[in-house]
Amino acid sequence: MTRHLLEIDDLNADELEEVLERCTAPHPARVLDGRGAALIFQKPSNRTRNSTEMAVVELGGHPIYLKPDEVDIDGRETAEDVARTLACYHSVIAARVFDHTVLERMAGAVTIPVVNLLSDLSHPLQAIADLLTIRAEFGPQLGGRSVTWVGDYSNVARSLGLACSMQGMRIRFSCPEAYQPPAEDLMRMAELGADWAEYDGDPQAAAEGTDVLVTDAWYSMGQEEEAALRKPIFERYRVDQALLDRAHDDAIFMHCLPAHRGEEVTNEVLDGPRSRVWPEAANRQPAARGALEWLVGASEAGR
Ligand code: CP
Ligand code: NVA
Repeated sequence: MTRHLLEIDDLNADELEEVLERCTAPHPARVLDGRGAALIFQKPSNRTRNSTEMAVVELGGHPIYLKPDEVDIDGRETAEDVARTLACYHSVIAARVFDHTVLERMAGAVTIPVVNLLSDLSHPLQAIADLLTIRAEFGPQLGGRSVTWVGDYSNVARSLGLACSMQGMRIRFSCPEAYQPPAEDLMRMAELGADWAEYDGDPQAAAEGTDVLVTDAWYSMGQEEEAALRKPIFERYRVDQALLDRAHDDAIFMHCLPAHRGEEVTNEVLDGPRSRVWPEAANRQPAARGALEWLVGASEAGR
């Protein structure tokens, strides 16, 4: 069976452990030795492109970056035909897309792993890097630890919520009412093993005593025209020092980056002693390496 990673819960809890173990293994298996990995980007990227390209190199492979107008998914040819073509030359297809269903269509068309490099719905490789960051701080047993997400319920929020649920964590989302997680996502998190997963519109209450405080941009790539509308709505959800002070004394702050400094987070917090945004960014490479190594190995073993 070919294994894809379109959302973090495409892995079960044991498989996620195996991936995390591969991320920290000192000697990656060179599962892509002499083979290619096609990396398609419909949107800009700094961390994801560079960390994934370097992860492919660490696995012995050759990454090829494909810019949006190069393959022009569903313009020049269908997503399925793009994927079928790339599968002739590559052992992995990874893509950053606007519409999550494009990834599902590509995955349905090929027998090599398809990996989500961020879609409107999810960002699983970011979630793996985030778990590595949280574990580096609190150890591998995260059951009962709490994470509070403040701001927009974004693609990153969803994947992180699901990933933390698989670790038995307590998850609270504090977002403006119109930007809160859908009930089915909270239900899925509970199903996956979250100690609890809930919405609390009051950021002060949600941050109280938490171990991990996380945010993301108030408007994602493709939503830039909503910036003026969103800014006043999200003003109350900025992570500043006063909000971080409500968290546990040992709490850490995380942000997937890029940050809009002064909007969703102040410089004081982002550059402060509790910020882990740079280890989090650095963890993108082991996360990509571990996930790719596992997916290629599992697919070829028929798991
Ligand atoms: N965090 C993240 O995915 O960053 P990029 O958009 O720069 O890849
Ligand atoms: N939510 C953000 C994450 C960027 C890494 C976006 O989709 O633009």
